Order: sequence, then C-alpha cells, then structure tokens
Amino acid sequence: MEIEKTADGSYTLFVPELNEHYHSVKGALTESEHIFINMGLKHSQATSPHILEIGFGTGLNAFLTSLEAKKENRNIFYTTIEKYPLDMETIKLLDYPKLIAPEESELFYSIHNAEWNSPQTVSEHFTIEKIEGDFTEYNFSKGYDIIYFDAFAPEKQPEMWSQTLFDNLYEVLNDNGILTTYCAKGVVRRMLQKAGFIVERLAGPPGGKREILRGTKKK
Ligand SMILES: C[S@@+](CC[C@H](N)C(=O)[O-])C[C@H]1O[C@@H](n2cnc3c(N)ncnc32)[C@H](O)[C@@H]1O
Repeated sequence: MEIEKTADGSYTLFVPELNEHYHSVKGALTESEHIFINMGLKHSQATSPHILEIGFGTGLNAFLTSLEAKKENRNIFYTTIEKYPLDMETIKLLDYPKLIAPEESELFYSIHNAEWNSPQTVSEHFTIEKIEGDFTEYNFSKGYDIIYFDAFAPEKQPEMWSQTLFDNLYEVLNDNGILTTYCAKGVVRRMLQKAGFIVERLAGPPGGKREILRGTKKK
C-alpha cells in the first residue's frame, strides 16, 4: 500500500496489486464531498438517515458524514462494511483531520477506534456500526435511506458490481432511498435500472470525472 497526494492536497492510498487508488487522484476530499455528501446525504429527505457504505477504507466518507451530522443537527446511523481494515499507522499517515477539520481530530480517531461489529455512538449525532465482512456474502437487514457505493472499480473488482448485489441493495433501501456512486459506466447504470432504481446521471466533482450516478427507489 502506498500513500499519494491528490490534486486538492488530500491524501489517498494506492494498491499496487490491483493498480487502483482508494479515491480519485484529481482530489480525494473533493470527490467524497461531492458524490457522497452533496449528491447523497444532502439530497436525502430522511430526517435521521440510516446510511450504508460499501467499503469503509480510510474512513474519509464516514468522517465527512459525521461532520455534516453535527453541522445539520441531524442524527445519523452509519453502517459500513470492510473486508480489509487498514492499520492505524496508515490512518495516521493520511491525516485527514489536519486538512478537513483539525478541531475534530478526536472524532476521526473515535470512528477508527470504534469496535467492529457493534454499533458505537461516537458523537452527539453520529453512531457508527463497522462490519468486518465481505460485501458479496453479507445479508443486510432492511431500512437504509442512503447507500454510499464506494467499491473499487468494476474493472478491478467485478464481483462487487453484480446484478444480484444491486438487486439486494435495492431491497434493503427504504422508499425514496438513494444510492450514489462515482462510477457512471453504462453497464452499471443498466444494472441499477434493472434492479428498480430511477437513475440520474449527475455532473462529477470539480476537476474530476465527468459524470456520476444516483439511483432512487421511487414507490
Ligand atoms: C474505493 S475503496 C473505499 C474508499 C472508502 N470509502 C474511503 O473513504 O476510504 C474500496 C474499499 O472496499 C474494500 N473492499 C474490497 N473488497 C471488499 C469486500 N468484498 N467486502 C467489503 N469491502 C471490500 C477495500 O478494502 C476498500 O477499502
């Protein structure tokens, strides 16, 4: 695993075995904020959303979400699944609080130190449940309002992007629930539509990908 600075000054990780980055090299922070916070969380009408993230990774999305929970005074329950948890040494090197919110450093580390497989309330408005497990085999219960779909790219990990898995995610979403992902490939869009989502192609993050996808479960 190698650490790399991205175009907006935030760091990401590079996995040589997969030849894949954890985030966009055009800006890790910019990407996460745009796709998951602005197009996902802020777009959701749910008063106290239950979020499901596929791929906890560096905890960047979780941290940004916890900051938004505080800003909006909105209670958030955040479930995230990760098959390969990172070690604390790597997390410290990424040093996200320094660039994003130095005064919330403690919150960032509470998220990372939170016990796996049992919900932990780490701030007034934010409870996190980190599942150490394999997304392709896990049975989620129903009741999510927002899904942050943040797996490695379909070319690198095709098993994470299957029709069956998108069908299952559609099933566990509440009505008006949404799923956002950075991947705008036609094949992914069609799988989401087949699962039942109404899919929008939205502008990508500034300086990054041209388009991203958001699926909504309309009933
Ligand atoms: C694009 S990165 C996620 C980035 C993450 N959301 C973040 O903010 O850092 C994809 C993540 O999916 C994880 N992953 C890979 N295969 C998985 C699987 N079968 N089940 C759950 N997580 C998996 C990887 O270890 C990696 O952390």
